[in-house]
Amino acid sequence: MVHAGEFIALPAPVTTGQASLEQSIAQRRSIRDFVPTILKMAEISQLLWSAQGITDASGLRAAPSAGALYPLELYVVTGTVDGLAQGVYHYEPQQHQLIKTSGGDVRAVLTQAALSQVWIQDAAAVIVFTADYQRTRRKYGNRAERYVHIEVGHAAENLFLQAVSLGLATVVVGAFDDDKLARVLRLPVELQPLLLMPVGRD
Ligand SMILES: Cc1cc2nc3c(=O)[nH]c(=O)nc-3n(C[C@H](O)[C@H](O)[C@H](O)COP(=O)(O)O)c2cc1C
Repeated sequence: MVHAGEFIALPAPVTTGQASLEQSIAQRRSIRDFVPTILKMAEISQLLWSAQGITDASGLRAAPSAGALYPLELYVVTGTVDGLAQGVYHYEPQQHQLIKTSGGDVRAVLTQAALSQVWIQDAAAVIVFTADYQRTRRKYGNRAERYVHIEVGHAAENLFLQAVSLGLATVVVGAFDDDKLARVLRLPVELQPLLLMPVGRD
């Protein structure tokens, strides 16, 4: 996935944390009421890493992928993130970096695209999961759709548990207008939006 734009190196992810996996699972809850807050770049870094970060020298990632074909592409819509201007950013796992794909605060229009779910505009940032089905279809034919949907569940749950472990609040949002969302984010045509995760503090 190649995007032109400003590159932002993310802080290195850490592999130790405050909460046990069991505590994070027990505490995980969908949260839709966010207080105004600023997220740290290190928090965004950790969330992205947990979902799609490289965790092996051979390039394997934090979440499993059928045939290791990695059809998922993640974007971050920023509102109030320390060190990241408001805009839309694409996550590049190989370099653990972001590329800015457009500028400005798009949370309000994103909210409209997501059937006016106001927790989107109240979030400090929104993680957007998209997929290129073709990457998986080339090898797995008509099972690709099933595989991609399984994969987005794996990645999103990783991010959810990482958010809990960091003391952050989130919810998965699957209800939105695909075309409106793709327009707001200026997604490349091959990418299908699958899931939004507004992130903040409660
Ligand atoms: C595929 C999927 C789509 C969802 N879409 C939305 C959504 O559009 N808006 C929302 O507020 N919650 C959404 N949710 C969250 C569910 O409402 C929530 O997980 C459920 O009420 C159980 O609560 P819990 O996550 O706190 O255990 C979605 C959950 C899943 C798994």
